[in-house]
Amino acid sequence: MTHIWLRAEPRHHETRVGLTPAGAAEMLAAGFTVTVEDSTDRCIPTSEYSEVGCGIAPLGSWPDAPLDAIIFGLKELPEDGTPLIHRHIMFGHAYKDQPSGRILLDRFKEGGGTLYDLEYLVDLDGRRVAAFGYWAGYAGSAMSLLAWAAQQNGTGLADVQGVSDASDLQERIATALNGQKPTTLIIGALGRVGTGAADLCKALGLSVTGWDIAETASGGPFPQVLQHDIFLNCILARHGTPVFVPASTVTDPRKLRVIGDIACDPDSDFSPIKVYDRATTWASPVLRVHDAPPLDVMAIDNLPSLLPRESSEDFAAQLLPHLLGLDNLGDGVWERARSEFSAHL
Ligand SMILES: NC(=O)c1ccc[n+]([C@@H]2O[C@H](COP(=O)([O-])OP(=O)(O)OC[C@H]3O[C@@H](n4cnc5c(N)ncnc54)[C@H](O)[C@@H]3O)[C@@H](O)[C@H]2O)c1
Repeated sequence: MTHIWLRAEPRHHETRVGLTPAGAAEMLAAGFTVTVEDSTDRCIPTSEYSEVGCGIAPLGSWPDAPLDAIIFGLKELPEDGTPLIHRHIMFGHAYKDQPSGRILLDRFKEGGGTLYDLEYLVDLDGRRVAAFGYWAGYAGSAMSLLAWAAQQNGTGLADVQGVSDASDLQERIATALNGQKPTTLIIGALGRVGTGAADLCKALGLSVTGWDIAETASGGPFPQVLQHDIFLNCILARHGTPVFVPASTVTDPRKLRVIGDIACDPDSDFSPIKVYDRATTWASPVLRVHDAPPLDVMAIDNLPSLLPRESSEDFAAQLLPHLLGLDNLGDGVWERARSEFSAHL
């Protein structure tokens, strides 16, 4: 009987979850054992999981879970260097030469555990089977618009707290913009992130230019990036990705004031944005990389957590059919994710 262990997320401001109580009930009915760590931060209360029959474990107790349990979380594990002995389903951010990724992989190597990286859970065509992209795009577009509005008022964007849902967020942006209409260029416009980013701009009646592979095929340079108020990077960077924003941009004549790097791979060599080197945080959402004229970069790496309930329900619905296939780890999406792990170990 396969045992799935839903761990709590240790990171501040991360309240998303990859399995809903309704999904847990389906797994229980299919014969899985489902353990859920208690968490007061999770956007779905622990009581809803116990009501459907899940076992409840103390917060952060997964290191003591039975060896055969599959530990399921979304974002990073506590960085305490301990060897990882279990099988883990999570976003590892470990395969694109990120320094923190190498540390994580070494912990797996030492403990003999396995990483099933959610980013590499793909179908036969290489397309991801479950992603938070749409809501990442929506939230990243929102944070970038709020950053632009704050800049017009001569202030920096502070922590955005207490957003109840997408319509609340949209109203807040409309109020902040106060009738101003910044122009936005989205690269990666045909993807999940790009679609969410564009949908919010369109809902607010703002002008959006959408580019995808065809428009960047020349390899650059791309002076059009400088001719928009906001640039949203929504691509999946890989070897050969052209540079969209070279280091010289900060001092170039430009209309550009805010870069929303929603793809957010600042420590990858493949990153197409060369004006900054670290992710930003909810407490400090933008990094000012130039004054006079200002240029702010918004690069938060867990953007969907701005709208935890919507994004969790969407992601969990996409993933559930595959979680129900966890009995057969040696095949399909799980086997492809394991072989990706082996290739990077
Ligand atoms: N910051 C966050 O919180 C967060 C959350 C979710 C996803 N992401 C990241 O966002 C990125 C995009 O994810 P997605 O789910 O939308 O992927 P996706 O595959 O659905 O879409 C990516 C799009 O980018 C396009 N693209 C790729 N290379 C391009 C290029 N050189 N020029 C122009 N277009 C190009 C593709 O054609 C595709 O349409 C990923 O890197 C993902 O890790 C970030």
